[in-house]
Amino acid sequence: MKNLHITFLILASVVGFWACSSDTTQDLSDLVTDPTYTRDIQPVMSAACTSCHSNGDQFPDLDSYTAVKEAAELGELVCRVQGACNDIMPPDGALPTNTVTMIGLWKDHGCPEN
Ligand code: HEC
Repeated sequence: MKNLHITFLILASVVGFWACSSDTTQDLSDLVTDPTYTRDIQPVMSAACTSCHSNGDQFPDLDSYTAVKEAAELGELVCRVQGACNDIMPPDGALPTNTVTMIGLWKDHGCPEN
């Protein structure tokens, strides 16, 4: 019984750490079903992606509407954040579920800017 207790404590602190580690991108309490680049996508890119993906540092640049749209339509942006192709992005762990779903919807809707 004591071991179970300890296991639970360890589990709780791991989950707690995991929950806090994603402090740059808050999980959206409600899924945004009509995302636009300017309102919804750009803030995620600058919080979670542009530290590496800007100014040609790491292909693809994700610091403008045109670049993000191209990465979504022609590149691996959506499947990378879903962890469905190659290494997941961002490399330190998945974005919150609602954020990942929102990025997929944005592409499905034709990547609206505003
Ligand atoms: C810590 C740096 C870092 C961050 C933050 C980061 N990436 Fe990356 N990304 C990389 C590196 C390095 C590669 C190349 C290696 C690879 O393909 O896994 C890459 C590759 C990619 C690719 C594949 C490019 C190709 O060759 O087709 C995409 C798409 C991508 N990242 C999207 C994103 C998105 C979206 C985010 C934010 C949610 C993000 N990345 C955050 C470092 C980063």
